[in-house]
Amino acid sequence: MRLFAPFSNILRLGAFALACAGASLLSGCSWLIMDGHQSTIQVEGPVARNQLSLFLVTCWVTLVIFIIVGSILAYATFRFRARNQAEEEAKPPEQGHGNPMIEVGLIGASVFALVIIAVPTLKSIWYTNDVPAESKENAYQVTATGYQWWFKFEYPTEQIAGYGALTTGDELVIPAGRPVHINLRSIDVMHSFWVPKLAGKVDMIPNRANYLWLQADHPGYYWGQCAEYCGESHAVMRFRVVALSPRDFEEWLENQTQPARSVPVPAGDAQARPQAQFAALREFSQNETGSSGAFEVDPLSSWRAKQFVDKGEDPVLIARGKVLFAAPPADGGKTCGTCHTIRGVSGAIGVQGPDLTHVGARTTLAGSWLDNTPEQLRRWIHNPEAVKPGNKMWVNGYVPNNIKLTPEDEAALVAFLESLK
Ligand code: CUA
Repeated sequence: MRLFAPFSNILRLGAFALACAGASLLSGCSWLIMDGHQSTIQVEGPVARNQLSLFLVTCWVTLVIFIIVGSILAYATFRFRARNQAEEEAKPPEQGHGNPMIEVGLIGASVFALVIIAVPTLKSIWYTNDVPAESKENAYQVTATGYQWWFKFEYPTEQIAGYGALTTGDELVIPAGRPVHINLRSIDVMHSFWVPKLAGKVDMIPNRANYLWLQADHPGYYWGQCAEYCGESHAVMRFRVVALSPRDFEEWLENQTQPARSVPVPAGDAQARPQAQFAALREFSQNETGSSGAFEVDPLSSWRAKQFVDKGEDPVLIARGKVLFAAPPADGGKTCGTCHTIRGVSGAIGVQGPDLTHVGARTTLAGSWLDNTPEQLRRWIHNPEAVKPGNKMWVNGYVPNNIKLTPEDEAALVAFLESLK
């Protein structure tokens, strides 16, 4: 066996290197790039910063332990290795087992290492649990509710007559530089609310009132993710957080609390044909990403751009989309309004799906899996099951109601929804 010893060392070293490479591939992380959308290393808020510093303390303590134990092991392995047959067969030297000095010393060292980690851990649990007392008055209140598979956001301080709290979906807009206290609810199964750059993560549990708080250092656009397996489309249950300056935030609230935008058809055009001509929908492959990267060059600017009305919108097409969305089936409606609310549009009062009153002003769709572009919106309503398997719009809407959309229907619905700024 000794003959193969050098080889087995090389093999072991090789296996170790392979394991390291495998682990880093599996974790999907690159050692050099730590600033991804969902980085917990490049943080932009006090809660995430606190959690990062706790992580680093733990890393340093364990690194010191690793170096000490590893060095002793390496030293002992080489220094006391058997050099010949006689040494190989020699009796083992006297063992340290039962030596009170060594045992008490090791227990003491372990307790010391645990205390070094425990103190900041407890402080961190205390700090991240709720908004610090001195800023509690100033905290903005939001309720986030998990649905299979999207997030609903409610603003209890913004009450709208006849509707209740201002409600949005997929995108949580918050004031930057101000603590936000988020009540976490779930309507169906367990989900988990996580915005890696700002804070995380806390479970959303049915019939349990969880909460967390976060704060964005400055205006920005942040990626969020459901972090608890919640069914077949868990991986595409995402959301965004948009932090705005206090003035922009007030302006956003002002616009959001208005009823849906209405695009009047110019007189004499009521019977006119839509101006736009429609290309056939291109085929999307299964699991094709819904994000082009165009939004991400400067996501906050992209978000701002979405707040404005599209040039060249077609009032006739929009009017037709509105009928398809909200009219009763006898009048050609597709029953969208039984699950979605669009404030100010009669017949659109459902609460099963996201409130779409201002959906045209969001950058993402379908649990933030798709960019909110006409092409992606059309892809989504064309075949929801292919985008987000098992989704309720398909299972409880399209299938039982036998909803069929022609290419013209799809174009009209897209024009209508995109007009809702
Ligand atoms: Cu919701 Cu995973």
